[in-house]
Amino acid sequence: MCGIFCYIGPRNAVRLVLEGIQKLEYRGYDSSGIALVSEGKLIFVKKMGKVAVLQAAIENQLSQQHLVAHTAVAHTRWATHGKPSDTNAHPHSDRKELCAVVHNGIIENHEAVRHLLEKRGIIFRSETDTEVISQLIGYLYKGNFLKAVQRGLALLQGAFALAVVHQNHPHEVICAAKESPLAIGIGEGEMFIASDPYAFVNHTKRAIYLHSSEIAVVTKNSVRAFNSRLLPIQKESEDLKLDVQEAIKGKYPHYMLKEIFEQPQTIQNALLSRYSEEYGTAILEGAHFSDEDLLKIQRIIILGCGTSYHAGMLGAYMLQEKARIPVEVEISSEFRYKNPIVVENTLAIAISQSGETADTLAALKELKAKGAKILGICNVQGSSIAREVDSSLFLRAGPEIGVASTKAFTSQVIILALLTLKLARMRLMGQNEGKQYIECLKRLPSQVKEVLEQADYIQSLAKKYAHYEDFFFLGRRLMYPTALEAALKLTEIAYVNAKGYPAGEMKHGPIALINESCPTLAFCADAVTYQKILSNMMEIKARGGKILAVVPEGATDIKKVADDIFWVPKTIDELSPICSTLFGQLFAYYVALERGTEIDQPRNLAKSVTVE
Ligand code: AGP
Repeated sequence: MCGIFCYIGPRNAVRLVLEGIQKLEYRGYDSSGIALVSEGKLIFVKKMGKVAVLQAAIENQLSQQHLVAHTAVAHTRWATHGKPSDTNAHPHSDRKELCAVVHNGIIENHEAVRHLLEKRGIIFRSETDTEVISQLIGYLYKGNFLKAVQRGLALLQGAFALAVVHQNHPHEVICAAKESPLAIGIGEGEMFIASDPYAFVNHTKRAIYLHSSEIAVVTKNSVRAFNSRLLPIQKESEDLKLDVQEAIKGKYPHYMLKEIFEQPQTIQNALLSRYSEEYGTAILEGAHFSDEDLLKIQRIIILGCGTSYHAGMLGAYMLQEKARIPVEVEISSEFRYKNPIVVENTLAIAISQSGETADTLAALKELKAKGAKILGICNVQGSSIAREVDSSLFLRAGPEIGVASTKAFTSQVIILALLTLKLARMRLMGQNEGKQYIECLKRLPSQVKEVLEQADYIQSLAKKYAHYEDFFFLGRRLMYPTALEAALKLTEIAYVNAKGYPAGEMKHGPIALINESCPTLAFCADAVTYQKILSNMMEIKARGGKILAVVPEGATDIKKVADDIFWVPKTIDELSPICSTLFGQLFAYYVALERGTEIDQPRNLAKSVTVE
């Protein structure tokens, strides 16, 4: 959930680490800080607020004292323990201020270790769990930096990635990873350490990933890696497939809008070389499951959080309807405490854009422990979840920077639709139906473009509804998860209380809330339940509720109940969520724009939730 960036080399470390944590602000931005070694002294600058606040403080300090540093660690924070403040900002140090620690994750036994150190006379300055790390290393340091770090980490429980610098060892940074991501960028006579390689890809495309319980001593020319018992291990560097250009906003005012408009291309990318028109089936090249494995599947469990959970719900409808396989969709943070029953021939699918969501990582490990085979659907190669599963189908959506997930969601749904096609064709679906299914998939990029071309009309609808504080978002069958996803978008970027509900559920209570000041956004593009949702709309109309309906082209009888209508291109029910979701994304974006909220980095949120 936080961003770590370190530099060691001949260049100006202060400028480079500031640039680095600016690129990582999507991971959290309530405070930030830097520790640098200048002329043999460890200097700290830490500020509440975004990195820009820290940068101003550093420029102010630089004007007063000449800071030349070639080793620096920096951090941008999303608070887990201790409110956002200068004191709680990272880096944290020991009582003698000889070492500095930047950390991402949670130290689960931080209170016990804090108590142990306080009994030995150590006085803590902050409310954070991270300070336990720096105080412990400081307490254990007797001259051997690596040994002090290794012994300290051996006492800590939890999931973390961290980097430590020490005043007495100015030419090295020690870093470690346990369940959280950490990448080391290999430069020419310089090294970078970051929570996400995207932050240093403009400097080097070669990286080493630290895995669970590995420690590395990094100097400007070397990386020495060890296991938790300090036995040396060999780490191979990988070439990064990231392009920093993709992550630049370009002509768009927000990353979110750019990523919404990328979807014709990202849907194309998700489909690329993943179907056979000749046989009307899908080709899942990344999924290392043999056809006999796939034929034997008798049950599927899908894990996810937030938007990824909504994608999983859509996958369940498709897989049960077309492949006739029982599917359970589970919210990761709940599932891991259910003591799941895993019968043989169970396929688990872990959906995660970032590949770093701690709840999903923990839940899939629980399933692995019970013998399930795991397929990952992720967007980030080398991410923790991508490394933990048996095989992965990557979204190929490029970096998604906006905290509100958009292009990743539609690509997740495409991947699930391809998986459905593959499994359905191995069971009851005939070749012709498979070929029709593929034709509908191939039409999606152009249909999405049709929706995007109506952005101005969607913006006019958004302006009309932007002042409402409460909304119902309703749908039936595949439009129900579509409604949930659209409601989440409006909630997280416009801070509107949008409640997603199955439309049939309204009469069992929630309809009591319908009145003039609580409009309904109805997603009606589901042929099987269209007449049913029409009657639900009439029940709402009869109680004075305003209705904005998202309807497939040609369904004109909606005109008798809806106050406003947005027509989406027609397709099969299994693929109807895509265009309806595009409407939901743009509607939420333009409402947030109208309400003046922070769109790419909404309050209280972060892009990657790496804490449980
Ligand atoms: C979606 O807009 C949110 N940012 C959030 O719900 C997100 O989908 C969730 O945290 C899961 O993230 P993941 O896909 O990276 O696992």
